[in-house]
Amino acid sequence: MSERSIAVVGPTGFTGGLVVDALLRRGMAVRLVGRSLDRLTSVAARHRNANPELCPVLEWERERIAEVLVGCAAVVSCAGPFVEAGRPVVEGAIAARVPYCDSAGEQPFIRWVYEQQNDAAQSAGVAVVPAFGFDYVPGDLGAAIAVDGLGPLRRVDVVYAVQAVGTSVGTRRSALGMLRAPCLQRVDGRLVVERLGARRRQVDAGFATVIAGSFPGGESLMLPRHLQVDTVITHVGLPGMLSPAGRWASVLPRVLSLPGLAPTLDRLVGRGAAGPGARARAGRVACHVEVEAEDGRRRAVLVEGTDPYGFTAAALAELATRMARGNVDATGSCAPAQVVDARGFLSATGYTVREVTPAG
Ligand SMILES: NC(=O)c1ccc[n+]([C@@H]2O[C@H](COP(=O)([O-])OP(=O)(O)OC[C@H]3O[C@@H](n4cnc5c(N)ncnc54)[C@H](OP(=O)(O)O)[C@@H]3O)[C@@H](O)[C@H]2O)c1
Repeated sequence: MSERSIAVVGPTGFTGGLVVDALLRRGMAVRLVGRSLDRLTSVAARHRNANPELCPVLEWERERIAEVLVGCAAVVSCAGPFVEAGRPVVEGAIAARVPYCDSAGEQPFIRWVYEQQNDAAQSAGVAVVPAFGFDYVPGDLGAAIAVDGLGPLRRVDVVYAVQAVGTSVGTRRSALGMLRAPCLQRVDGRLVVERLGARRRQVDAGFATVIAGSFPGGESLMLPRHLQVDTVITHVGLPGMLSPAGRWASVLPRVLSLPGLAPTLDRLVGRGAAGPGARARAGRVACHVEVEAEDGRRRAVLVEGTDPYGFTAAALAELATRMARGNVDATGSCAPAQVVDARGFLSATGYTVREVTPAG
């Protein structure tokens, strides 16, 4: 096995496939890790010239995963839902002493990585970076940019706004699990459970004025790792009836958990398109981040771009390449802003950032 390969776990999925493309475009060697040799072979057939290594793992356990990660320069995991498939990959990467990043968006998984895996990752001398995709890199890096010089913060409000909704099977599966789990926000220094959509926020997202509802994001877990901040609320604004700002938000988690309905919903989300179409991917997306200092000063930035899946793949490929080249010094469970320079990284991945008037 090549010493310098980057392992992609879950390369048979929509996002893992984009990550493989992005790594190969950067000239990196890849090792494909998944639970089916047939499906890994199909992925490899699309990249015959690159000759990727294939590593099937028939028992999805820490020890077996660690065995195939030994000797890799970095690992990117896109095997989700992460609450089902993610933990043995993190533990395997730490056991093999390989730096790790992933595309998770699920709050319970991100919390487990920060609270349960930090010490092991530090002892192994590697960085473990969960949720390094469209969820929640713009919010974390946007806050790191907005805070510049303001000192300790009273609160941070993050709003994700999407012009056209298009999802992969994995996103739909993970979103179902997230909406059934408690929604945590950080309020006055503590993580508290709040109803989905309990708070509403209106911002100018560049392409439209958006009304967003509160949502179980990653920022309430990430920002305190690098900023002094008491309250962190993440919101999402989507077109259509499933927006957390919509009238269904208050009952949605209960409806999705109804014992009679849950198995049918689980089946239905697996049907339909494997990933978003060209129209949805071309739609504009934005992340509005507003910070308020303890002395009342406010500042807001707008991170803007298109194609959240393309951004996720580019961000993961760029971070894994930096990890493989020894350009990430941090160890332990890290937030995005602890492993990359905020402005430079967003521009390297094609997103822009500008200061805007605070929404208040
Ligand atoms: N944060 C973000 O912005 C962002 C962006 C994109 C995706 N994501 C997340 O990334 C994950 C993958 O998304 P996707 O679009 O690639 O979904 P997908 O197309 O459904 O692919 C899922 C991948 O995970 C693997 N997998 C699923 N369950 C597994 C299990 N129990 N054990 C081992 N492997 C398993 C699948 O392998 P098989 O071929 O063996 O089934 C496949 O490779 C989802 O959780 C999604 O929410 C997040």
